[in-house]
Amino acid sequence: MKPKVYITRKLPGAIIQQIQEKCDVRMWEEEEVPVPREVLEEEIKKVEGLLCLLTEQIDRSLLEQADNLRVVANMAVGYNNIEIDEAKERGIIVTNTPGVLTETTADLTFSLLMATARRIPEASDYLRNGKWETWSPMQLTGQDIHGATLGVIGLGRIGEAVAKRAKGFDMKVLYHNRSRSQDAEKELEIKYVELEELLKESDFVCVLTPFTPETENMIGHEQLALMKKSAILINTARGGIVNEDALYEALSNGEIWAAGLDVFKEEPVSLDHPLLTLPNLVTLPHIGSASIATRMKMADLAATNLLKVLEGEDAPNNVT
Ligand code: DGY
Repeated sequence: MKPKVYITRKLPGAIIQQIQEKCDVRMWEEEEVPVPREVLEEEIKKVEGLLCLLTEQIDRSLLEQADNLRVVANMAVGYNNIEIDEAKERGIIVTNTPGVLTETTADLTFSLLMATARRIPEASDYLRNGKWETWSPMQLTGQDIHGATLGVIGLGRIGEAVAKRAKGFDMKVLYHNRSRSQDAEKELEIKYVELEELLKESDFVCVLTPFTPETENMIGHEQLALMKKSAILINTARGGIVNEDALYEALSNGEIWAAGLDVFKEEPVSLDHPLLTLPNLVTLPHIGSASIATRMKMADLAATNLLKVLEGEDAPNNVT
């Protein structure tokens, strides 16, 4: 008998077919609407495998109902939506999709940095809204990227890929990470510094660390106050790492110059969130890895992880 699997969102046909060849598949058929919790609670009781997205909270109360579950394959590199300790205790393997999204997410991080520094969305709106009456010396002026200092918080794969891009812009790169990487320091000509120094010295601060209890609210009032008034904060990791109230204050009081966010504490962010009223904030709806090719690779890797475990083999990306 084929193992039973539940997929929490409509995935590309080729990926579903690949899973269907080996499993008895049920799926939430919507593309833009997440599976309701009560549906997931029913489905989880029946299956050995779950392929889910970062929009699903795979927590203790859900796992308690999952008597037959052997694997949770998350279609994301981040897995803060899953209670790993609880899964471990129950012998459930959790997998993620590292590597395949590194370059795409680094591209987006750098795009957001550039869009924020050069006020690209604001300038585009300025033109479309009929405000462009003349060329004027200080109109829509931003911050230079070339030659500036970039501070990377979290030197994982994506952090390194962002640092590589920064070198092409003649930027000086500082980084802060739990552990130092002498190899990366040599190869990328980057410098390890304490967080405080990174915040004081950088013109751009990119948050690229995983979301964990240690990194929750890692950037708050105190940290933002250390940054230059001309500095720009970019977060393409997870919303909870930057304290949003503190960021709102820093942006509205001119403590920092601007911010670019691809992620929020609550997603989708509410349209009446105070941050969205600020002209010096550039926002995106969590699209770091959103290229067609990369999303296909992520879905494919999540499917491979799922099938490997169900076939009794080692999953390539086991995080438990
Ligand atoms: C991830 O994979 O964790 C991203 O946030 C979505 O690609």
